[in-house]
Amino acid sequence: MYEELLGEVESVLDGERDPIVWMASLSCLIRQKLGFFWVGFYRLVDGHLRIGPYQGSLGCLRIDLNKGVCGTAAQKRETLIVPDVHRFPGHIACDANSDSEIVIPVFDRDERLRAVLDIDSDKLDDFSAIDQHYLEQLVARMKDVEWTRGS
Ligand code: SME
Repeated sequence: MYEELLGEVESVLDGERDPIVWMASLSCLIRQKLGFFWVGFYRLVDGHLRIGPYQGSLGCLRIDLNKGVCGTAAQKRETLIVPDVHRFPGHIACDANSDSEIVIPVFDRDERLRAVLDIDSDKLDDFSAIDQHYLEQLVARMKDVEWTRGS
């Protein structure tokens, strides 16, 4: 499924440089293909995370670095898989249906953090190293986005 998703992303977004277009389209394609109930981006703006394009129920508008799963992944600059969000200290419950979560940092060409991709599942322990591998490959496609544009 991830191989198909990578192919779709290549064909839909080839040559695209606008970060909003990328984030909106990736949210849609990932959710359609994989069926998770919340898929979206938080952007790094003025030292905190602000909601970006997403698909799902209403997300929190602002998350401070080191707060929640998103803020922790952003601060550590590494992917976090949380099999049970109810056991994650400081988890921010935007939607009570969330049981497990994966957050992938998005870097630009100069390895500056620009955003995080947040995916929530209503099943416990729903993310594996395979999800991490392919989702990191997907967001790596955003390295050449013009981050000063649109966002
Ligand atoms: N669960 C996240 C907050 C964002 S929402 O799930 C959309 C967190 O703890 O970072």
